[in-house]
Amino acid sequence: MNETLVTIAYLVAAVLFILSLGGLSKQESARRGNALGIAGMILALLVAVLSDDVSRYGWLILAMAPAVVIGAALAARVQMTQMPQLVALLHSFVGAAAVLVGFASFVDPHAGMTTSAELIVHSIEIFIGVGVGAITFTGSIIACLKLHGSMSGNPLILPARHLLNLLVLLVTVGLGIWFVIGHDHLTLGIVLLIIATILTGLFGIHMVMAIGGADMPVVVSMLNSYSGWAAAAAGFMLGNDLLIITGALVGSSGAILSIIMCRGMNRSFISVILGGFGTDSGGGGGGSAATPEGDVTSIEASEAASLMRQAKRIVIVPGYGMAVAQAQHVLAEVVRLLRDDGIEIRFAIHPVAGRLPGHMNVLLAEANVPYDIVMEMDEINDDLPETDLTLVIGANDIVNPSAETDPHSPIAGMPVLQVWKGNKVIMMKRGMATGYAGVGNPLFFNDNTSMLFGDAKDNVDGILAALKN
Ligand code: TAP
Repeated sequence: MNETLVTIAYLVAAVLFILSLGGLSKQESARRGNALGIAGMILALLVAVLSDDVSRYGWLILAMAPAVVIGAALAARVQMTQMPQLVALLHSFVGAAAVLVGFASFVDPHAGMTTSAELIVHSIEIFIGVGVGAITFTGSIIACLKLHGSMSGNPLILPARHLLNLLVLLVTVGLGIWFVIGHDHLTLGIVLLIIATILTGLFGIHMVMAIGGADMPVVVSMLNSYSGWAAAAAGFMLGNDLLIITGALVGSSGAILSIIMCRGMNRSFISVILGGFGTDSGGGGGGSAATPEGDVTSIEASEAASLMRQAKRIVIVPGYGMAVAQAQHVLAEVVRLLRDDGIEIRFAIHPVAGRLPGHMNVLLAEANVPYDIVMEMDEINDDLPETDLTLVIGANDIVNPSAETDPHSPIAGMPVLQVWKGNKVIMMKRGMATGYAGVGNPLFFNDNTSMLFGDAKDNVDGILAALKN
């Protein structure tokens, strides 16, 4: 395929990716954004396959066919609640690819490079690409294991860990300088690259092991960012402009998302990276948090239904439990019924509700809940005191008042939905268990809170049946 055509097609794919990201930033345009991203990726793949760089189609099919089958089977089977670990696993592939591309392009450099300046720049690209790739690879594997529950979510705090990290960084920089100076010695270069891969790989493991469970959402988006930079580095090594642009888009959007999520949890990005959240040396309160206790008032689904009928303004706060129970479809039916009767209903979405960014928005869109009644936390928090009834469905940490009232709580300072300021709260959950952060919730014991115990889907079914009667 003609090189100019390849360049034009890559440019079109890059524009499609940018439009895709723009579309994904709003619910109304998210489907279009997704479609544009898919179109860009298909175009990029086709052009890459048809370009002059590819000649051995047999090898390509051998590599791609099992990947397509495994990818399709995984995507079809994965539960929405398992998405974060799948995403982390996919990031690890990008990291591994960057490491392999680094080794390959060192052993077999680009034909066009002749001057020593070009070769020096190329060896810097290789070293950085391999390092970022190895951190992304091992860090993402650990994140996947932690999110899957195959490894404890507690932060691993080694003595003098910051010093250890600094030492690894200094040694790696030293190896990098040696590698660039001796770039024309093949064996020495490979040995240095292998040592650097091991060191940065260990750094990736240590970095994510030190991050506690409550900070994992930020870690996933941070690794997303790293995988983008690893892809961009691979693009430099291969001289592929599209890979550079796409990598930079993923890298920067992942970094922006991490910062937004840090704000949502009132954590500084640096303290997340340094790890140790939930321990005395980390952020989030420190000291010992108060254990809430008292009497709870429990109600049945039929009583919840009649409270909903009597209310004029209702706010629904969905959380992880709604996703587990898959209660969104029947909940949407309840909302339609009540809105038809003139009751104002809105949804309040916390930035870290559920287990992945935008988790609740996806579920509500899937159930065809109108976008204009789905509000972000900042848009609705001030309206909560004027709300007749707040229905908290499978949410816990994101409505926990101790984030504001208990300075020793591990979630102290995390912005939360102030549902307790409203007239009446119904909490739907199966029992008295804590949420993801493992923190007791005093909201259960408030006078204006009623607990509706049981699986969220069963209870919303019960509410719907009662409303229809
Ligand atoms: P959580 O605080 O985890 O609370 C979910 C509650 O749902 C649990 O207390 C559980 O109580 C209840 N539940 C579970 N299954 C249920 C079912 N079938 N029916 C009814 N209730 C059920 O969730 P949240 O309020 O959405 O907060 C999210 C938390 O996850 C935050 O701490 C956040 O930092 C963290 N996190 C977020 C992300 C992202 S990016 N969103 C990623 C990873 C972690 P019972 O067991 O008593 O039913």
